[in-house]
Amino acid sequence: PSPSPSPSPSPAASPFPAARAPGCPFDPPPLYARLRQEAPVRVRIWDGSTPWLVTRHDDIRAVLGDPRFSADPSRPGFPSPSAGFKALGAAEVQAFVTRDDPEHARQRRMLTGYFTVRRTAALAPRIQEIIDGLLDRMADAGPPSDLVEDFALPMPSLVIGELLGVPPADQPLFQRAARAMIARDSGVAEFTAARTELADYLRELIAHKDRSPGDDLLSSLVVERVRGGALDAALLVEIAVSLLVAGHETTANMTALGTLVLLGDPDRLALVRDSEDPARVAAAVEELLRYLTITHSGLARVATEDVEVGGRPVRAGEGVIVANASGNRDAAVFADPDRFDPARTDVRRHLAFGYGVHQCLGQNLARTELQLAYPALLRRFPDLRLAVDIGTVAFKDDMLIHGVHELPVTW
Ligand code: HEM
Repeated sequence: PSPSPSPSPSPAASPFPAARAPGCPFDPPPLYARLRQEAPVRVRIWDGSTPWLVTRHDDIRAVLGDPRFSADPSRPGFPSPSAGFKALGAAEVQAFVTRDDPEHARQRRMLTGYFTVRRTAALAPRIQEIIDGLLDRMADAGPPSDLVEDFALPMPSLVIGELLGVPPADQPLFQRAARAMIARDSGVAEFTAARTELADYLRELIAHKDRSPGDDLLSSLVVERVRGGALDAALLVEIAVSLLVAGHETTANMTALGTLVLLGDPDRLALVRDSEDPARVAAAVEELLRYLTITHSGLARVATEDVEVGGRPVRAGEGVIVANASGNRDAAVFADPDRFDPARTDVRRHLAFGYGVHQCLGQNLARTELQLAYPALLRRFPDLRLAVDIGTVAFKDDMLIHGVHELPVTW
């Protein structure tokens, strides 16, 4: 069928990202609830372009599961989330995160073995040690503490660093780079400088691993793939940047923001702290992932062909932003979706890790970290509480990933 022309975006297209309701830092913008009743609409993003916003659970899965939508930011019309990311889209060498199949699958296949349920479960004892070490330090230093600085950020940083073979002393370097890269208003110069510093560092590190390989993921990729010619060293640097950044920022924000949700209700807190049943803790973690959906800037794609989405004609070359935070509050799938309910039985369909071929590579690792981190923290400090009024907590509305900048706690 011949594609019908898209309605031209109205000059009044809503700005995206939309604002959350005042005082509701855990709920997505109220705009989503209204849009879920309608077909997809155009929104206006930072560069003035007007991609489609997809808010319903079934439409989101349709887009993310359809190879006619590309994750390649070098394609015209791709709705990059910031100026820095847009500039990066032109780079010649790009990791699988921003490639389409078959190149995406070719690269991802080299990594999946390191992130299986079995492999990550085997890491659990070491992750527990890392967690306990940080909690010991917190206890020794005594209250109060900034939970972000002392626990939520170093925990996944140490875990992904150890997995990749990045020395713990270099945490500040990659944390700083990631922070600059995910700031919404990070300009091209700032973004590029941060990313270049990180890539230069990892290039050096990978060259060092080639000379003297260790027992880590980057060494193993150098030895098994780069030396045989299956993987270009420059591409491995890009892959390493992606893994390092994706592997700590997300989990760090979930750790801190999730703790804040648990602290807000004694029953939730008690469930995660006192439950002897790991399955109940795992269910609470899944519910935190659904409820918070920290990728609050959505997931970006561009149509490579004319496609209909939720009854709207999306034309080839038009951008689409998938609001997975909205899909996770869709009443068509989740009963009483705005209620935090760690016992809900419908949580398995959540979209917090995305959907389709780009679905989070590190999800098993993230789950293991969170399932160990919340109970360990709450058992070590059974009367953990916020040290400030929640109204003064600085939420990350200025970042591409939701979270808190600091979380002052006491016990
Ligand atoms: C992809 C969320 C932790 C590595 C994704 C996507 C989401 C996501 C929504 C899909 C992006 C898209 O479709 O455009 C999260 C959340 C995490 C988390 C909420 C923590 C709670 C991790 C960890 C790693 C990781 C620990 C460690 C390696 C990746 C990678 C991709 C990805 C490499 C790209 C996969 C691909 O393009 O095939 N993540 N993630 N993530 N994530 Fe995660």
